[in-house]
Amino acid sequence: MFEDVINFIQDKFHTKDFIPLHEPRFVGNEKQYLNECIDSTFVSSIGKFVDKFEEKIADYVGTKFAVATTNGTSALHIALLLANVKENNEVITQPLTFVATCNAISYCGATPIFIDVDKDTMGLSPSALHEFLEKNTYIKNQQCINNKTGKVIKACVPMHTFGQPCRIDKIKDICDEYCITLIEDAAESLGSLYKNKHTGTFGQMGVLSFNGNKIITGGGGGCIVTNDEILANRAKHLTTTAKVPHRWKFVHDEIGYNYRMPNLNAALLVAQLEQLDGFLENKRQLAKKYKEFFKKSDIVFVTELENSKSNYWLNTIILRDAQQRDLFLDEANSKGIMARPVWALMNKLPIFKNAQSGDLTNSEWLEQRVVNIPSSVTM
Ligand SMILES: Cc1ncc(COP(=O)(O)O)c(C=O)c1O
Repeated sequence: MFEDVINFIQDKFHTKDFIPLHEPRFVGNEKQYLNECIDSTFVSSIGKFVDKFEEKIADYVGTKFAVATTNGTSALHIALLLANVKENNEVITQPLTFVATCNAISYCGATPIFIDVDKDTMGLSPSALHEFLEKNTYIKNQQCINNKTGKVIKACVPMHTFGQPCRIDKIKDICDEYCITLIEDAAESLGSLYKNKHTGTFGQMGVLSFNGNKIITGGGGGCIVTNDEILANRAKHLTTTAKVPHRWKFVHDEIGYNYRMPNLNAALLVAQLEQLDGFLENKRQLAKKYKEFFKKSDIVFVTELENSKSNYWLNTIILRDAQQRDLFLDEANSKGIMARPVWALMNKLPIFKNAQSGDLTNSEWLEQRVVNIPSSVTM
């Protein structure tokens, strides 16, 4: 039934063997920098590559500061703590996201509130956000209070799904109006721009992930990007066990975390970052070919909005309904082409079943139809 799609993908990846969804490419200075790192003996969380990576990634996204972490989840956790998210607070996010976004909210003792996404961006919908806040909250002492629970809504964490930027400028305006701190989950969107500004740089803090499945990887890794020096210093302090700097004394002035990125991971990442522009161009070319191909079919290929530039991290198609999606998944995976549906919506997971939600029509529609198809940098 989907033979033409399968042939097309096999042709683009030059193989009839297994084609993964997204595999990393190590074709630059990775081995050289790893060797330098090993020879120096600085393999753990102190070392020149971690500092260098922070400098380079901040420069790349256009923020004043970046703080490197062990992974994207720990970066989200720290960003939420820095936004003062505490026990009994609430945090708005989208139900169509990877579980890490909601796990980090839970680590702070807070509860997520799920607000719908826009169909075209698959990211948090500013109109749904505004409608929810207008109907369900009031402002008291510069805090947004939920009418239903009486709890403070401290932060909002939209996510740029599969690298497609959401309407982040509008979300920022709404968050400002309702005294809510904006933290962007840009784990999937390194290299994606909205109105010529890098995703992750609209809110008070943005979070990136460098997991093995991302556009560049350190094996593992994450970071917080921000223009706020105080927050950046606090992030560094909290991610390094809250140790008070001293040449030999070990004194810690609050409960901290062992979340700093090891130098080994940073060595890989410095090399990967050198290749990012090439990876982005290569992925853009692949997306262009997919777009042309799917024009001829009844399957929709998701493309960037006019004012956005997507990194096309994971190419996304929308099938007619859940039945057609399942047929596609079965046929593609049987032929060795890795394709996968979108995550189960967070509000449907038992761990978040008691969380409050707005109307989730778009998320539910997408959940039934979205499939990711192979998206690696082609060689
Ligand atoms: C949307 C989103 N948020 C957070 C994360 C967490 O990143 P990590 O796996 O580096 O902890 C990921 C990716 O894994 C993600 O896709």
